[in-house]
Amino acid sequence: MFLPKYITKFSRWIGTAAALAGIVLLSGCFWLDGPQSTFDPSGPVARRQMDLFYTTCWVSLVIFVVVGSVLAYAMIKFRARGEADEHAEPPEQAHGNPLVEISLIGASVLSLVIIAIPTLSGIWYSFDVPVEDKADTYEITATGYQWWFKFDYLSETAQTLDPSGKLVNAPFSTANELVIPAGRPIHINLRTVDVIHSFWIPKLAGKVDMMPNRGNHLWLRSDKPGYFWGQCAEFCGESHAVMRFRVIALGPKEFNDWVNAQMAPARKVTLTAGTDAGQAKAQFAEYRAFRRNEAGYSNTFDVSPLDAWRAKQVPPATGENPALIQKGRELFAAKTCSSCHTVRGDGYIGVVGPELTHVGARSTIAAGLLENDRDELHRWIHAPNEVKPGNTMWVAGYLANGIKLTPEDEDALVNYLQSLK
Ligand code: CUA
Repeated sequence: MFLPKYITKFSRWIGTAAALAGIVLLSGCFWLDGPQSTFDPSGPVARRQMDLFYTTCWVSLVIFVVVGSVLAYAMIKFRARGEADEHAEPPEQAHGNPLVEISLIGASVLSLVIIAIPTLSGIWYSFDVPVEDKADTYEITATGYQWWFKFDYLSETAQTLDPSGKLVNAPFSTANELVIPAGRPIHINLRTVDVIHSFWIPKLAGKVDMMPNRGNHLWLRSDKPGYFWGQCAEFCGESHAVMRFRVIALGPKEFNDWVNAQMAPARKVTLTAGTDAGQAKAQFAEYRAFRRNEAGYSNTFDVSPLDAWRAKQVPPATGENPALIQKGRELFAAKTCSSCHTVRGDGYIGVVGPELTHVGARSTIAAGLLENDRDELHRWIHAPNEVKPGNTMWVAGYLANGIKLTPEDEDALVNYLQSLK
């Protein structure tokens, strides 16, 4: 190519700038405060992990600069200066310089020690709640399923109706939204019922694997109330990438209120003056269609996710249809949903899928993938396989049992599930 010299030079600069921009973009360095950024920690465990990352980075940077400078110095100082240098015999090989070699070994050992000290103390620190905080620890068991998370609250019991209609205590669990008291150390037992998953809340702690036949755990603390994004971080099958969850940290009083609300049996919507007239009037025409892979949540979760979550806790003042909700409650058994899902108080005790007693009060459904509103819930129960390919509800539920839902059925089920605040 016969290009003028300045053009070649110019295009070389452009190429370098583009490559640098590409590296910055690929490394995600523009979004250091994103919802899953480890550079914006909200608790002591994540902060310790970030500090360790920076220590390693700085040590590596010093080594890079020193080695790079020596290399550059040697390349410039001993470069071939003319035709004669280029064809000269290489100098005789020397054995080496003991002083230089010993100092290099010493420097390498020193830098490894500098990295090892915070690494070991960080491993020790993140292993379990510090002794002085043990008494204040709140314990929860998280279990991985393909592809969702179950959370058992070991120190709480919930109320449910036994077959004779008597109120009894039962274990209390929830799914995909881990609600914790802010400021307190949380000890989380990590379990799995199938394959290896990995539990990770980038701003709080992790990642630690959930291993079959092995009892792992981690601990974390959220500095203050907040709403955090979590993610399974170990490939666990075709829908691994959409196996997500949320962590909601609340102040002491709000956390207590939440626990009390969860312990109660399922909410019953009955005919009162404030509600609709009571015919099972289908409203399905209002549901919209979704494209595959369309984003599943609105920007209310970008603005103030904790407030968006709070808004889900209270039942709507108007617009609930008791007759339609009752129809949905019956369909929940008729369509065999109840053989996998628990709704305490409605007599449904399935344990294969997420507990749904208060599903209407969660901010997300389908393992943190979709916002929990009427449209997205309809999208989920209408075509679960489009949302989360290969999921158990589709394969072992819809397909295996030949479950077919009419638009009227879907509408009733959406109304029932949304009423479970
Ligand atoms: Cu579970 Cu990836």
